[in-house]
Amino acid sequence: MASHFILLTLTNLLFLLPSALSQSAPAPGPAGPINITDILVRGGQFTSLLRLLNQTRVLDQLPNQLNNSNQGMTLFAPTDNAFLNLPSGTLNGLSEEKKVKLVLYHVLPKYYSMEDLVDVSNPVPTQAGGEHGSLGLNFSGRANQVNVSTGVVETQINNALRKDFPFAVYVVDQVLLPLEFTQAPAPEGSSTSPAGKPAKAPSSPAADGDGSTPAKNGGGRRVDMWVGLVGGLVMLCMAFL
Ligand SMILES: *[C@@H]1O[C@H](CO)[C@@H](O)[C@H](O)[C@H]1NC(C)=O
Ligand SMILES: *[C@@H]1O[C@H](CO)[C@@H](O)[C@H](O)[C@H]1NC(C)=O
Ligand SMILES: *[C@@H]1O[C@H](CO)[C@@H](O)[C@H](O)[C@H]1NC(C)=O
Ligand SMILES: *[C@@H]1O[C@H](CO)[C@@H](O)[C@H](O)[C@H]1NC(C)=O
Ligand SMILES: *[C@@H]1O[C@H](CO)[C@@H](O)[C@H](O)[C@H]1NC(C)=O
Repeated sequence: MASHFILLTLTNLLFLLPSALSQSAPAPGPAGPINITDILVRGGQFTSLLRLLNQTRVLDQLPNQLNNSNQGMTLFAPTDNAFLNLPSGTLNGLSEEKKVKLVLYHVLPKYYSMEDLVDVSNPVPTQAGGEHGSLGLNFSGRANQVNVSTGVVETQINNALRKDFPFAVYVVDQVLLPLEFTQAPAPEGSSTSPAGKPAKAPSSPAADGDGSTPAKNGGGRRVDMWVGLVGGLVMLCMAFL
């Protein structure tokens, strides 16, 4: 009787074990690959940003950079509405180089939680290179209500699409236009910078994102195998009882 009871609880345990194990192992673990496209697609209102990220190839660079950094990364994600609210022709008036700069201005080469942003020391360097080092963003506010300012645009940081180290993605209602862009009234043709030197490339290794995904389910399968083995053993014991 007692042994039957023990066996019963044991088999119960075995049925519970797999689900318990899979729960304790979060799907996209901190070490696992982070799919930026997926995060933004799920967000549901970032088509313009995705297009721009893709067009500028920044989408290809970010995962590598994220993987090669121990500082993490922060992305500000303007909504489709934010892009619609830009003065008409803003994006089309930008050279490819400036589009890259605009996108990289939304990326901080370090992970910041919302709390971090409250008392960060301004200006915070972005991935976008300017004439005097990287272009910065300013942050102000208190817990759960932080504003970001570029000098021409100030907007509130809304909810996070992703908030855990190493990658934070915060929603913003406005495109973060660099002050630099508005200071040069002629969008193209005229000299972009005194030396005419191109915008500094992001300090990242060559953008050779090949989208290859390392086998990520090996661990899970091994656990399943173990559970199967132990289960089989218990069955065997039962047969002898
Ligand atoms: C990332 O997510 C998108 C959208 O869900 C998907 O189409 C793509 O295959 C994923 N990429 C990788 C490398 O997993
Ligand atoms: C990026 O653009 C290419 C074409 O240039 C397209 O095939 C691909 O689906 C786009 N990817 C995303 C995530 O928009
Ligand atoms: C991430 O970096 C590690 C080494 O730091 C490397 O082994 C792995 O292939 C990289 N993964 C991707 C997706 O680049
Ligand atoms: C950002 O903050 C720094 C330091 O407080 C200040 O000197 C600078 O003028 C600010 N820039 C903008 C655009 O607000
Ligand atoms: C944040 O910016 C909004 C404008 O988008 C402004 O109304 C608000 O006062 C700012 N809040 C703080 C704390 O600076």
